[in-house]
Amino acid sequence: MSLLRTENVIMQFGGVVAVNDLNIDIKKGELAALIGPNGAGKTTAFNVITGVYAPTSGKVLFTPTDNAGIATEIDITGKKPDKITGMGVARTFQNIRLFKELSVIENVLVATHLNANYSFLSAILRTPKAQKGERQAKAECEFLLERLGLIDLQNEKASSLPYGQQRHLEIARALATKPNLLLLDEPAAGMNPQETDELTDLIFKLKTDFDLTIFMIEHHMDLVMEISDHIYVLDFGCTIAKGTPEAVQNDPKVIEAYLGVDADVEN
Ligand SMILES: Nc1ncnc2c1ncn2[C@@H]1O[C@H](COP(=O)(O)OP(=O)(O)OP(=O)(O)O)[C@@H](O)[C@H]1O
Ligand SMILES: [Mg+2]
Repeated sequence: MSLLRTENVIMQFGGVVAVNDLNIDIKKGELAALIGPNGAGKTTAFNVITGVYAPTSGKVLFTPTDNAGIATEIDITGKKPDKITGMGVARTFQNIRLFKELSVIENVLVATHLNANYSFLSAILRTPKAQKGERQAKAECEFLLERLGLIDLQNEKASSLPYGQQRHLEIARALATKPNLLLLDEPAAGMNPQETDELTDLIFKLKTDFDLTIFMIEHHMDLVMEISDHIYVLDFGCTIAKGTPEAVQNDPKVIEAYLGVDADVEN
C-alpha cells in the first residue's frame, strides 16, 4: 500500500524549476532514499511534501490509517506544515533547526505538545489532567532521548551539543510527534565514517521499533546503498532514475550526473 505519493509535482521559483514532474510512490514500511547532486531539488521536494511550499502544480497524497485500521488517501497538497505533521509526517532539516537556548529535553517536549490531549487553558491552570499529561510527555521524551543516546545530556543547552548529537536530537524531536512517515534531510551530514555507520544502524532499528516508513536524503552513498529499498535520483529537478540500489548504482545516467562525465565515453 502506498503511504506517500506525488503526482507530477512541479516547483518553480521565478525562472528556476527546482522540482520538475516528480512522481514518487513510497510503500508503507519501506525505506526510500532521494539522492542527487547539490542543487538537484531534493530539499525542495521535502519542502513541498511537508507543506513549506505549495507546489506550482501537481499533487501530494498521503494515506494515514485511522484507529479502526482503515487507510484513506488524503490530498495534502499545500496544507499547512503543522497540519501535515499532525497527520503523521515528521521531518528533520538539512540546516539543523533546534531551539538553541532551550535544553535538550525541552526541545523534544515542545514537539509532544502537538499530540497533547489537554487544552492550553488546562495547562495554564495546571489541572490534574494537564499535570498527568505533562508527566506522560516527559516520560515519552526521556524514552526517546534514551533511544537516541542523549539521555545523559537532557539538561544541556541544545546549542552546546556537538553537531552529530544535534542531528540525533532532531530525530528525537521528529519522533515525539508520533509519525508514520519520517523524512530525514541529510541525517549524516558532517558526521565522520564511524558516526555514519552508527547512524545507519540506528535508523534501521528505529524504522522497525517505531513501525516507520522512511524517506531520506543523503549524500553518504554507503549509507544509502546499505539500507534503502528504493532510490530516486534527481538531477536539475528531474528524476533521472528510480529503482533498487543495485539498479540505480549501475545506471549510466546516474554515474554521469555524479561524475559529470558521459559514462559511455569513459567506458
Ligand atoms: N526558496 C527558494 N527560492 C528560490 N530558489 C530556491 C528556493 N529554494 C530552492 N531554490 C533553488 O532550487 C534549486 C534546488 O535547491 P534544493 O535546495 O532543493 O537542492 P538540494 O538537492 O537539496 O541541494 P543540496 O544537496 O545542496 O542540499 C536550487 O537551484 C536552489 O537555488
Ligand atoms: Mg538540500
